[in-house]
Order: sequence, then C-alpha cells, then structure tokens
Amino acid sequence: MDFRFDIIAEYAPFLLEGTLLTIGLSLAGIVIGTVLGLLIGLGKMMQNKWLAFPFECYITIFRGTPLLVQILLIHFAVVPLFTGNTNGILASIITLSLNAAAYIAEIFRAGILSIDRGQMEGARSLGMNHVQSMRYIILPQAFKRMIPPLGNEFIVLIKESSLASIVAAPEIMYWGQAMNGQYFRVWEPYLTAAVIYLILTLSLSFLLHRLERRLATE
Ligand code: ARG
Repeated sequence: MDFRFDIIAEYAPFLLEGTLLTIGLSLAGIVIGTVLGLLIGLGKMMQNKWLAFPFECYITIFRGTPLLVQILLIHFAVVPLFTGNTNGILASIITLSLNAAAYIAEIFRAGILSIDRGQMEGARSLGMNHVQSMRYIILPQAFKRMIPPLGNEFIVLIKESSLASIVAAPEIMYWGQAMNGQYFRVWEPYLTAAVIYLILTLSLSFLLHRLERRLATE
C-alpha cells in the first residue's frame, strides 16, 4: 500500500484552517454552553415543579436525540427561519452550544447537590441568608467539583464538532471529506484527521490535569 504524503501536504493549509475552526467551534460551544447550562441547571432546581418542568423538557430532548439530527434540524429548518438563509458555522455553534448546555446543566446540578447539606445548615446557623450561603459557601465548593466534568465536556465537544462537516462548516472533517472526494483515497484523509483530533484532545486533557492538580492543592 502506498501512502501519498503529497496529498496531505497539498491539503495541509486547509487542514490547519480546519483545525482552527474546530477549536473555535468547541470553544464557542463550551463557553456559551456553560452560561446556558448554568441557567438551565438553576431552572431545573427550582422548587416549583411547574416552573422547573420546561427546563427538564429541554434537558431530556437535547440529551435524548442524536446530535446529528439536531445539527440537521437547526441548520436546515431553524436558522433559515430566522435569517432566511443557511449558515453551516452558525448552525454548528448554535447546536453544539445548545447540546452542551443540556449536559452542563446536569453537571451543575450534580455539583451543587454533591455538597453536604451540613454546609448549608452551618452557613445558615452563622447568620447568612440563603443567597449568601449559596454565594460564599456552596457555589465555591461546587464549582471546584464541576471543573473535571466541564473539562471532559470540552473534550467531547472537540470530537463531536466533527459532525459540523455534514452542514459544510469547513472544520477538520470537512477537509478530510474533501480530500477523499478529490482523490478517492481513504487512509490519508481519515488517518490525518484522526491524528489531528488526537493531538487536540491529548493536549487539552494534559492542560486540564495540570489545572486540576493546581486546584487540588489549594
Ligand atoms: N454522539 C452523541 C450524540 O450524538 C453525543 C452527544 C454530545 N455529548 C455531550 N456530552 N455533549 O448524541
């Protein structure tokens, strides 16, 4: 089997651009997803079950349907409804953010529920009100516990952003497909894409481990 490095060299500039877009998509997804996820997580934790119900539905729908289906729906149906046009990058950012938000809402909820209730009771007995106890006692501890699963979600997003290629957002996999389409080769495009994804996820998990160690010693 011959391995055509010249094809990879030819596509290198595109793959580099694609890598930047992959990083951009997953970064946007984790940032927007975290903000939305915190709100949705809070919504689901509301005492009033009727108020919490829509948030519960949101989480159930986005976690219970395939991301591929969500991307196609948002790209071809939802975005054109608002802008009159399709836009692969925009649809990908929206879908990845909305999808991540559903998972992050649960990460957030689990983080808060994992704090022993004695912490809240202690804070209240020191004279803090509910909001102060949350702000100074519960949330700082909960956020620390949320960092590993949030980092994990970031890694998941890097890999899942490959689905954006289906709506022609020119990220890594899109260029892999283009390479395959032009030369009818399979090893070169897909192996190259796999190596790039692996480098991205390994670097990120290395950085996250360092961050976690740093926070653990505090
Ligand atoms: N591949 C799964 C899907 O299609 C993963 C969804 C995203 N997962 C996540 N933790 N954000 O539904």
